[in-house]
Amino acid sequence: MSEKTYCLSTPIYYPSDKLHIGHSYTTTIADAIARYRRMSGYKVLFMTGSDEHGQKIERKAKEKGVTPLEYVDPIVDSFKELWRMLNISYDDFIRTTEPRHQKVVQEIFRRIWEKGDIYKSEYEGWYCTPCETFWLERQLIDGKCPNPDCGRPVELTKEESYFFRLSKYADRLLEHIETHPEFIRPESRKNEMVAFIKSGLEDLCISRTTFDWGIPVPIDEGHVIYVWFDALSNYLTSAGLFQDEERFAQFWPADLHLVGKEIMRFHTIIWPIMLMALDLPLPKTVFGHGWLVLDGGKMSKSKGNVIDPIELINEFGADPLRYFLLREISFGSDGNFSREALIKRLNADLANDLGNLLHRSTAMLGKYYDFIVPEPGAYQELDLKLQTLAREVLDNYRTYFDNLEINDAVAEVWRLIAAANKYIDESAPWVLAKTDRERLATVMYTLFETLRQVAVLIGPLMPATADKMWSLLGLSGSVQDCRFNQLEAWGGYPAGTKVTQGPPLFPRVEVESADKEETPVTTEAAQTLSDLKEEITIDDFAKLDLRVAKIIKAEPHPNADRLLKLQVQVGPEERQIVAGIAEHYKPEELIGKTIVIVANLKPAKLRGEISQGMLLAASAGDQLALITPEKEIPSGGRVK
Ligand code: MSP
Repeated sequence: MSEKTYCLSTPIYYPSDKLHIGHSYTTTIADAIARYRRMSGYKVLFMTGSDEHGQKIERKAKEKGVTPLEYVDPIVDSFKELWRMLNISYDDFIRTTEPRHQKVVQEIFRRIWEKGDIYKSEYEGWYCTPCETFWLERQLIDGKCPNPDCGRPVELTKEESYFFRLSKYADRLLEHIETHPEFIRPESRKNEMVAFIKSGLEDLCISRTTFDWGIPVPIDEGHVIYVWFDALSNYLTSAGLFQDEERFAQFWPADLHLVGKEIMRFHTIIWPIMLMALDLPLPKTVFGHGWLVLDGGKMSKSKGNVIDPIELINEFGADPLRYFLLREISFGSDGNFSREALIKRLNADLANDLGNLLHRSTAMLGKYYDFIVPEPGAYQELDLKLQTLAREVLDNYRTYFDNLEINDAVAEVWRLIAAANKYIDESAPWVLAKTDRERLATVMYTLFETLRQVAVLIGPLMPATADKMWSLLGLSGSVQDCRFNQLEAWGGYPAGTKVTQGPPLFPRVEVESADKEETPVTTEAAQTLSDLKEEITIDDFAKLDLRVAKIIKAEPHPNADRLLKLQVQVGPEERQIVAGIAEHYKPEELIGKTIVIVANLKPAKLRGEISQGMLLAASAGDQLALITPEKEIPSGGRVK
């Protein structure tokens, strides 16, 4: 049986700017898809690179008094460094200044020329250097570049040029688009492109004579090839055209070109027509994703609203950033970037949901089984419900990924994580530890098998975290070598494996609150000593068992708005406490806090939820603050 292959690309980036988080968006999505395909058993070619020619680069280099190559070299190195920090698993990084690419572009030009689809004529029109785009007089808006993201002045260009017969292929392209519904995605962008083609295609000017920084036209050395004709060809160079027949046969046509919406026109009109002129098959899908915006506008250096991904990685780590990009934005639409939203995702989804699931499961395993995962006994309904959900999540995750609904695929994994957390609450291992050891073994096994599945599912999303979990779970190798079909049958986790309790997977990030102003002590608080309670003796006080506890999970009470349901660690024990603090604290603010509880209070059900203790808080008027030890004290410590 021949090997399944998958070929995908990001655009190649201009090294005229520093990369910002908008660029990281395209590349992170592509990386998750590449990893997903590898883990689904495909041999993958994931291509990215840099687009180094053209007038824009030549001018910038001149401004700096260096050669174009001297100008781009360090920038390209910084791209590679960013991709290393973000864990981008590209298979080929192509620079358009490489000799292998120059040869391919010249050969492409020659073949299309020989076919008669390139001809020489005179170009007279407008050129936008920042966009490296030719415009007709009628397309300009107020005499400026009509690209909504640009709007900068254009230059009148009159020169002898080579032209590519785009117009000849318009009908064939329309037919291809119609008969291949997967070719342009999402649907809305297809309609835009079809309308553009129907409005009439002009032949495209593909050579310039007024500057030198480009690949020479092979039949006329005074001309350099238009930078987009050069750049689009990178996909063929990288796939091995004219150099590696076997690689090319394996990987072409590409399965997916992932591009931002503003460069769809190049990828779904010029590019397929170049391929038609070369008698090569067209890529299966060009997906035009939306932009990462900041306050409604596309991030771009010219607007001065860019966010540096390196700073974010240094502050929060690569995986939280990857997670945010993959989860937060509905793939295809524009999405807003904000630090607050990133921190919120980190604290709620990563520290709270995922981190705590691993942490509390491991703490219980340590306490009940000395960290060795036990053999499960007979499964009960609650376990089977979780197993069924895990299978459903796997199926949906694959369907969503296959269909490029990336954020939905990610959300599925968190459905499983939430279900596993709920499973702990419902099965209450801390009660089973006292009443039913056999059942406890099944519950603990079920949890660790679920954690194994979660580690595999997050492999494409957060590769470093997945491997960290994998090794804490005592499993060997890398998650990247796992295959999703290994999750199809329940029970792949080997009982008897020793698990390690590590530091939290994701430390919580404290949000600096803007309204930190101190509220003066209210007169009410100052005066209330007069309503002192009845005097007690030291023996009365000694009856209270006050303990230090750590909040490991917090969520709203299902039946009462003012209550929160907390899971707290008290020494070796995990307990549930229901507290009336919902008006003062958000659940995600509480995770990780060390508090003081009355540990020997008789358990009671509060609106249907068991509460095994009470937390201490100070209050005055409508203010409330939790009592916490002033220094770090391990949970379980006595408060005297
Ligand atoms: N060099 C061309 C591509 C040639 S491909 C044959 C180019 N380069 S670019 O550096 O300007 O942009 C590369 C990619 O980054 C584009 O897909 C673009 O949409 C994407 N992004 C740039 N800013 C972005 C956001 N703010 N948000 C999302 N993607 C963004 O175009």
